[in-house]
Amino acid sequence: MALLEIKNLHARIEDDGREILRGLDLTIDPGQVHAIMGPNGSGKSTLAYILAGKDGYEVTDGQVLFDGEDLLALEPEERAQKGVFLAFQYPVEIPGVAGMTFLKTAINAHRRARGEGDLSTPDFMRRVRDASDRLQMTQDMLRRPINTGFSGGEKKRNEILQMTLLEPKLAILDETDSGLDIDALRIVSNGVNALRSPERSMLVITHYQRLLEHIVPDFVHVMSAGRVVRSGGKELALELEATGYADYESDAA
Ligand SMILES: Nc1ncnc2c1ncn2[C@@H]1O[C@H](COP(=O)(O)OP(=O)(O)OP(=O)(O)O)[C@@H](O)[C@H]1O
Ligand SMILES: [Mg+2]
Repeated sequence: MALLEIKNLHARIEDDGREILRGLDLTIDPGQVHAIMGPNGSGKSTLAYILAGKDGYEVTDGQVLFDGEDLLALEPEERAQKGVFLAFQYPVEIPGVAGMTFLKTAINAHRRARGEGDLSTPDFMRRVRDASDRLQMTQDMLRRPINTGFSGGEKKRNEILQMTLLEPKLAILDETDSGLDIDALRIVSNGVNALRSPERSMLVITHYQRLLEHIVPDFVHVMSAGRVVRSGGKELALELEATGYADYESDAA
């Protein structure tokens, strides 16, 4: 069974009624990595937000099944507990909330939802240390409030740290590569690759073929004007890098 099945999804902005997703179809099987590319404003982040349950969007048609269940009927925190994780294009700063406290609370909430007991503090600390070492994050970053005063690249690492510890079934990475320097791109990609497994699927939104040299996708999709207009293998990313989106934008207009 597919892990994620999106059929004919239509959605609009609640405030102004503008339709952003216009009949989007996408199916992701367990263990697969799918990349979404496409011009600015084509609706990539909107899709990510709708899957995660951010408010401000209204689904007007279509459906989304996650593990066979109606994802859109679930509250955002239920989706997270069932294994949907979104790494934001623009991670938010949360002053006053210590990153470690937040992580521990989130992990234990997920464990309880799965019928597992809380992690002991030593277990938690060991997992944080392993994951943060791999991402080459400093102890100082871990002690600070969430993302507060972090550089753009540090925020992205922090998103991947959260993802590593929460062990999602579906990880949605929205432009996780933007703002990363060359070394950080490799470090973050290694962090993501370490999480690839037959039980975990990923949806990687990116503008750059470069990221997909590190995180090699099973499928690449082009999104334009709120739909998937073309799908292919990893070579499609190379082709797009060479040709751009001109062909697709005229289709959509
Ligand atoms: N809350 C909102 N209010 C008004 N317009 C919105 C809102 N969210 C999204 N949009 C509009 O929806 C369209 C799609 O935006 P979205 O962020 O999904 O694009 P994107 O494909 O992620 O682009 P980028 O590559 O620049 O990140 C844009 O025109 C954007 O202005
Ligand atoms: Mg976006």
